[in-house]
Amino acid sequence: MSATVLVGTQWGDEGKGKVCDLLSKNYDYVVRFQGGNNAGHTVISGNKKLALHLIPSGILYPGVTPIIANGVVIDPKVLLEEIKYLEEINVSCENLIISSNAHVIMPYHLELDGASERHLGSNNIGTTKRGIGPCYQDKYERCGIRMQDLCDEKILREKLEAVIPTKNSILKDVYGSDVQFSVDKVLEEYLSYAKVLKKHVQDTSILLNRKLSDGKKILFEGAQATQLDIDHGTYPFVTSSNCTAGGACTGAGIGPTKIDRVLGIAKAYMTRVGSGPFPTELFDEDGEKLGEIGAEYGVTTGRKRRCGWLDLVILKYAVAVNGLSDIALTKLDVLGSFDQIKVCTSYEYQGQVYVNVPLQQTAFHHAQPVYTTLPGWNCDISECRNYKDLPHEAKSYVEFIEDFVGAKVSIITVGPDRDATIMRGWEVR
Ligand code: GDP
Ligand code: IMO
Ligand code: MG
Repeated sequence: MSATVLVGTQWGDEGKGKVCDLLSKNYDYVVRFQGGNNAGHTVISGNKKLALHLIPSGILYPGVTPIIANGVVIDPKVLLEEIKYLEEINVSCENLIISSNAHVIMPYHLELDGASERHLGSNNIGTTKRGIGPCYQDKYERCGIRMQDLCDEKILREKLEAVIPTKNSILKDVYGSDVQFSVDKVLEEYLSYAKVLKKHVQDTSILLNRKLSDGKKILFEGAQATQLDIDHGTYPFVTSSNCTAGGACTGAGIGPTKIDRVLGIAKAYMTRVGSGPFPTELFDEDGEKLGEIGAEYGVTTGRKRRCGWLDLVILKYAVAVNGLSDIALTKLDVLGSFDQIKVCTSYEYQGQVYVNVPLQQTAFHHAQPVYTTLPGWNCDISECRNYKDLPHEAKSYVEFIEDFVGAKVSIITVGPDRDATIMRGWEVR
């Protein structure tokens, strides 16, 4: 039995897709357990570059079975487009398995996401407008539509008849929107998706538990990240799911005793898209340079990512909240032309020093980073494939991080391609 959970440690876009693809060849199943198509995971292998939003990043290996588990919210239209996109480049999705309990993003969720962001004005969250929050809202309000409901016309009609009038009145009366939905039209559209997707729908929790008992290996691919987690992130500037490691248990229906490793993906600097606190954000030319060299534009929305120095207070928090056994430090190559590199080791706010993430969100919003400055290596490391080949300063950077946060950096990535990777003690089990 081997189950590994892979999670983001910052605000997303750490390179989860790349690391997940890289590790997938040693697993039998790769499972998405939360989030939806707000995620944008990039996988590059040879001449294939994929931007995946819903389908797990193990899809390139024919021997790996991709699973979308119950904790994910699925926009079936997007899923079908993604399947088509993959099949056009000869990546088969025949073996994709989808949980019957996964909730479905409906057209009114998309509309409500946009309307609520407009309503918030300058206080908006900066969501991806993919309907994620409103879909999870319905899940917890117990009026959501699940994949199994799409496969049963009578049930689907009943549920839509119960929910659509309420959504229409919220749109009209609360948000002043002219957009209204008709049960018949939504029913027709979603039944047509179900026709194609039905064959993929199963009870994935039972399946995964059976496979674990059979000795199969499972990789759980987190989307978003620790600081975007609904409980542990920078609330309310978060997504609506548990992106931390515990989310893999509820989001896939496996017990915590089944997980033997948690790998946190950490970018060698920080980025964030959307609103919310970001203590180490840079507004100077170093920030511009990180964004330019790191090509920091969102995979899902194309938005420019905010950039800043690595925040070790946040990384240490991610080690704790997720119980990280290992860290994959990504995009180390991007730091190759800085004379000096800063890392944040504590914060200051109103004369007080914070060595942990401040309890009060106001303190986090206004926290001033306290930096330790480390020497840069000023050279291109993108061809390095062994730890010993890295310049002394780059090794010192890596070792400073692991000493500070108390978790082993066992993978380092130095380029977007699958092979631009340094394995440093990640054990294949
Ligand atoms: P994810 O959401 O965590 O999967 O990350 P994204 O795919 O949204 O963003 C990561 C970006 O960095 C993608 O464009 C990757 O191709 C790229 N990338 C991943 N690892 C590396 C690396 O080690 N070096 C560089 N330069 N780019 C990388
Ligand atoms: P991956 O998996 C970066 C951010 C949005 C917004 C907040 C809430 O590629 O790392 P939502 O649409 O989820 O309600 O938006 O979360 N966000 C992400 N930022 N990477 C992601 O996914 C994200 N998914 C959501 O920008 O600030
Ligand atoms: Mg991304």
